[in-house]
Amino acid sequence: LFSSVELAPRDPILGLNEAFGADARADKVNLGVGVYYDAKGHVPLLRAVREAEKARLEAQLPRGYLPIDGIALYDAAVQTLLFGATSPLLADRRVVTAQALGGTGALKIGADFLKRLSPAAPVAISNPSWENHRALFENAGFTVQEYPYYDAATHGLNLDGMLNALSSLPAGAIVVLHACCHNPTGVDLTEADWARVIDVVRARGLVPFLDIAYQGFGDGIDADAAAVRMFADAGVSFFVASSFSKSFSLYGERVGALSIVTASHDEAVRVQSQLKRVIRTNYSNPPTHGAAVVSAVLNHEGLRATWEAELGQMRERIRAMRRGLVERLARAGDFGFIEDQRGMFSYSGLSSAQVDRLREEFGIYAVGTGRICVAALNDGNIDRVADAIATVVA
Ligand code: LMR
Repeated sequence: LFSSVELAPRDPILGLNEAFGADARADKVNLGVGVYYDAKGHVPLLRAVREAEKARLEAQLPRGYLPIDGIALYDAAVQTLLFGATSPLLADRRVVTAQALGGTGALKIGADFLKRLSPAAPVAISNPSWENHRALFENAGFTVQEYPYYDAATHGLNLDGMLNALSSLPAGAIVVLHACCHNPTGVDLTEADWARVIDVVRARGLVPFLDIAYQGFGDGIDADAAAVRMFADAGVSFFVASSFSKSFSLYGERVGALSIVTASHDEAVRVQSQLKRVIRTNYSNPPTHGAAVVSAVLNHEGLRATWEAELGQMRERIRAMRRGLVERLARAGDFGFIEDQRGMFSYSGLSSAQVDRLREEFGIYAVGTGRICVAALNDGNIDRVADAIATVVA
């Protein structure tokens, strides 16, 4: 049966974890996967999460099935975080939200739903984009193409290239957009840039699919949702895949959500019924623990304040590491762009050969494209990382 099965290539991001785990060097550093590590190099267990978990454990709750679209209070909290508590969309009940298995799971159920709705639509992703975007949409049966995004010469955004490409997409094309903290480049659009993108999306009748996996890691919870809220104000229908993996440090619990903005409550009811069929035939219904914890935190004033403070500390620590890296790399060149980038990632400009050298000679792991996770830097490894980068770029 399996004699003709070929060996698949290692995942470009998660595959690095396997190689990193197998590396015996004590001073190895994992700048590959998008995970926030604290100043001591550990994946943090947030205090807000600990307190919510303690209460859940003490409550000794039974383990029944969740509804197909997850915990209602969780879904409502997701909507408030994304669209803002006073959003008319929420008052009009035009948004459908379903708990999903992380941001990836949200993208997947969105893609499956869209495949039923618009089977022939092309999907456009940014160049570059998160490695899994292309694979995920192709796996759902779509043809995937790219729109220009990153300008290597300026380490910034190629807005004109992006707008031109979006303008030439056919009506109904699905456009995957990173709402904040672009993965892998860390280069984001300004609000003025978003306004221009939204004009094109509306004029061409495109279907925006916003991916927001790092809300709170750029400039703040509300600031990072600016693009989502601008699309909401623009009166278009769109999709949002969101995740609490990073913002709650709950990676393995797979806590995310898909939100679909529709034109009316009546539409929302019908869309929700179809989305539930997609979920039911994929994994039936989502797991309880992670979403229950997130819901408990977001729906409790005190825990929420604790979480917001902890998220703020993570954001500030990443910023400090960006600054520290730029300072230490000054002798090797101008890396000031790293400080302008947002979120966990920096497109460092390192070539794949330089990334190989970092790994082989120094035990420093980065994605082959040159993406480094600055959220994995700390006072104990930043000098070594800067020295190694300076060596490989010399
Ligand atoms: C990343 O890009 O490193 C994260 O989103 C983790 C993943 O699933 O790839």
